[in-house]
Amino acid sequence: MQLDGKIGLITGGTTGIGFETAKHAFKQGATAIAITGQNEGRLASARDALALLGDVTAIRWRADQPDDTKRLAGVLKDKYGAIDFVFANAGVCWPTPFGEIDATAVQSQMMVNFTGPLLLVQALVPIMNKDGSIVLTTSCLHQLGIPGYAVYSASKAALRSLARTLSAELKDRGIRVNTLAPGPFETPIHGKFGMEPAQLQEAKGYVASMVPLGRFGHTEEIVDAAVFLASNGSRYMLGEEVSVDGGWSNL
Ligand SMILES: NC(=O)c1ccc[n+]([C@@H]2O[C@H](COP(=O)([O-])OP(=O)(O)OC[C@H]3O[C@@H](n4cnc5c(N)ncnc54)[C@H](OP(=O)(O)O)[C@@H]3O)[C@@H](O)[C@H]2O)c1
Repeated sequence: MQLDGKIGLITGGTTGIGFETAKHAFKQGATAIAITGQNEGRLASARDALALLGDVTAIRWRADQPDDTKRLAGVLKDKYGAIDFVFANAGVCWPTPFGEIDATAVQSQMMVNFTGPLLLVQALVPIMNKDGSIVLTTSCLHQLGIPGYAVYSASKAALRSLARTLSAELKDRGIRVNTLAPGPFETPIHGKFGMEPAQLQEAKGYVASMVPLGRFGHTEEIVDAAVFLASNGSRYMLGEEVSVDGGWSNL
């Protein structure tokens, strides 16, 4: 199996893509998985569900709190000594219409989607085994020009760039960095946009109409790519991006 004997961290592992990937990682032989989330209730529910599949540790972590990152690295070191892969998946998507963008809107989204993963990787590399893999979650939107997503798309473009630089910096330690770029997936993230239900449905319909496959993806349709990037199967890939987006960014 792809993750036989591996120990990994999945940030934002309580819902959506992260939670589904944690389940798949156990099915692919992972020895232990640590997940993070912000919300205590969702963290406990995810931990209980994943505990049926294997050794899981649930840790509260906020991407915009550097002290949380130091604490997270300490917990992982104490519990596992070293880890094999990091799926830096936690992220937010806050649409910001042009004309309403201020410095706070930029900084808050960049902090969660870019600065947080960067500081996370920096804190975790010292406890990563050789042949380790880091997967950063971007978005197909950094390759597209979709109105209202200037800040979000740029935060993911920054992550895409980071994967290239970190790959060069970490290759001699035997650690690879790649990115996973989802298209639109049915997850709780869309309910966090702050839109009214009818407005959200309309927006989702518009997005689905732009995707060549004509629909949102289901989280089971991205986990194979996530696990592949986290595993030794992708050992000859560095600074690469794998798009799982129904063809949106390519056709
Ligand atoms: N779904 C899509 O259509 C889509 C498309 C392109 C890219 N993506 C990217 O895929 C990743 C996963 O998204 P998803 O759709 O699975 O979203 P989701 O269901 O909303 O899950 C997000 C996860 O990240 C955690 N999280 C959110 N804000 C955080 C913060 N400030 N600090 C630490 N953890 C935080 C959440 O925990 P709490 O619930 O406790 O806050 C949750 O566990 C994100 O990076 C997203 O940008 C998603």
